[in-house]
Amino acid sequence: MDDLNTLREELMAAVNGATDTAALEEARISALGKKGRLSVMMKGLGAMDPEERKSMGQALNALKTEVADAIESAKTALENAELDAGLDADAVDVTLPVRPQTEGRIHPISQTIDEITAILGEMSFTVAEGPDIEDDWHNFTALNIPPDHPARQEHDTFYLPGEQDGERMVLRTHTSPVQIRTMQNGEPPFRIIVPGRTYRCDYDATHSPMFHQVEGLLIDEAIHMGHLKGCLIEFCRAFFDMDDLPVRFRASYFPFTEPSAEVDIGCTREGGQFRIGHGDDWLEILGCGMVNPKVLENCGIDPVKYQGFAFGMGVERLAMLKYGIPDLRTFYETDLRWLKHYGFSALDMPSMVGGLNR
Ligand code: DAH
Repeated sequence: MDDLNTLREELMAAVNGATDTAALEEARISALGKKGRLSVMMKGLGAMDPEERKSMGQALNALKTEVADAIESAKTALENAELDAGLDADAVDVTLPVRPQTEGRIHPISQTIDEITAILGEMSFTVAEGPDIEDDWHNFTALNIPPDHPARQEHDTFYLPGEQDGERMVLRTHTSPVQIRTMQNGEPPFRIIVPGRTYRCDYDATHSPMFHQVEGLLIDEAIHMGHLKGCLIEFCRAFFDMDDLPVRFRASYFPFTEPSAEVDIGCTREGGQFRIGHGDDWLEILGCGMVNPKVLENCGIDPVKYQGFAFGMGVERLAMLKYGIPDLRTFYETDLRWLKHYGFSALDMPSMVGGLNR
């Protein structure tokens, strides 16, 4: 019985000394597990004489119950303590200041392209795309750009080294080649706009070697200059959000249109202050014209049956005018402070439903 007392003390010490549920489980196994000390002693009962077996059996059973009860209450206590510790560790301190908001901004170029697309999308134009690396034919020849045109010269255009299919390739100098690709690959009528990157050897406060344009093309039967004017006047007034914005068409020249025009909007430049709207001055904002019959023929389209108009605008220039951005080079400097100032919230997507939302 002395042995049993010692065993009792040892087992209870192990149970009460367990500092976490894993240690407690170990104590349980070493006492009550299959090969635990109490289980082994229970097995030894069979070899005892009946008298001894009875008293030893009772004592062992009592000890077993005592140990099991002690394990159970220790387990509850340890589980509660572990739960409390977990809750403490995960506690949210509601007095901490909120984290700074890190909402991204939409770049003014993307915003401006989205706005142009929203306005012209309302007039049923769909977006078309083409490659940045063009061949000479799509970029120049098919657009009726003559061999001596300045755009073809080394110092104006980025030519790629080497040749592809016996031809030297260019970084497209405008988005107009996508007119050609669209007309070659489909059947009229066409009503597309082409936002995209364009490239020229130029660098100053209003020019960058890479910039963006949106080209427009509408081809159908019985299209005339009135359609061109209506479409672009409507566009300018929606884009600058001014119902009575003065818009004028000034005769000009582009090889791919005939007749050609440049579109000016009204402005004032009083006391060094530039303002868009009614005034005594004009500002050129885009080029346009009736598609030259030669261009239609180059694309296999019958110029007697089909006519149409085209236009092209510089995205940076429009963004600078609309949002008062003074230097074009800042568009590409990826300065986050600049983007925070001039950028747009992603939640303010342009829409033409009820006017252009801003
Ligand atoms: N491609 C011209 C340029 O880059 C812009 C342009 C002018 C496009 C008149 C047109 C147009 O489609 O009709 O300067």
